[in-house]
Amino acid sequence: MTRTVYVNGEYLPETEAKVSIFDRGFLMADAVYEVTSVLGGKLIDFEGHAVRLKRSLDELEMAEPCTKEELLEIHRKLVELNGIDEGLVYLQVSRGSDGDRDFVFPSEDTKPTLVLFTQNKPGLADSPAAKKGAKIISIEDIRWGRRDIKTVQLLYPSMGKMMAKKAGADDAWMIEDGHVTEGTSNNAYFVKDGVIVTRPLSNDILHGITRKAVLRLAEEAQLKVEERLFTIEEAKAADEAFTTSASAFVMPVVEIDGVALGDGTPGPIAKRLREIYLEESMKEAI
Ligand code: PDD
Repeated sequence: MTRTVYVNGEYLPETEAKVSIFDRGFLMADAVYEVTSVLGGKLIDFEGHAVRLKRSLDELEMAEPCTKEELLEIHRKLVELNGIDEGLVYLQVSRGSDGDRDFVFPSEDTKPTLVLFTQNKPGLADSPAAKKGAKIISIEDIRWGRRDIKTVQLLYPSMGKMMAKKAGADDAWMIEDGHVTEGTSNNAYFVKDGVIVTRPLSNDILHGITRKAVLRLAEEAQLKVEERLFTIEEAKAADEAFTTSASAFVMPVVEIDGVALGDGTPGPIAKRLREIYLEESMKEAI
């Protein structure tokens, strides 16, 4: 089925949507993005994604393409036009183009490029992958130093995912200076003796929208949370582990670098947090 997508003010069939070959998103990865999940036809934590998008744009001195209210309307219209019950809305804003390639930013009146499209993912909430749990390998983190800005520079995370696949695993956690930063497209956690451990926020990791919600829900459920640096060895010796992201919610991790965690099946805290997160975020979906 042909999707309806959004490009710079227009709703078009995906086959007719066009962006300039000089667009800086295409030539320079000069673009930021957000992924918002859809459950029951409603947007999960739209507000959180809109706030982080504004922060990414501000950090890169990129113009806002439209207001938050307009963005919400576009998200909702695409969900409706494409009949999405469970899935995602992908949004990308680039610095646009003034019709040539140049390292210097184009003039300030250059219009940003705004693109949105939906991905239909039936069964996203009741995912078989989450029931099985993910196998993780560890790789070196060689990304740039502003991982808190959600840019489209995803070549290395993409290569990391391929390294995992080649090793018979599902995903990779990245390591810098002896400590785990995050997963290729998610935040990383382990649980030991009932304490949930995850890296504190800084420029080294993306400030996950799901991370924020899950840590709040964990504390409300009287679970202990420690935000601190941790090694892959600690994670391998943990009782359980998991990742969080808008596209996979809370995903249990059952193996790290070939070492099974606990009994090698999704742990009770990861499973519980996944349930609580899905229940609470659906209540607040708009
Ligand atoms: N990825 N860390 C990285 C490097 C990410 O790319 C993501 C999200 C996260 C989790 O953030 P959030 O909870 O806000 O989704 C952490 C999205 C889903 C993606 O690239 O598809």
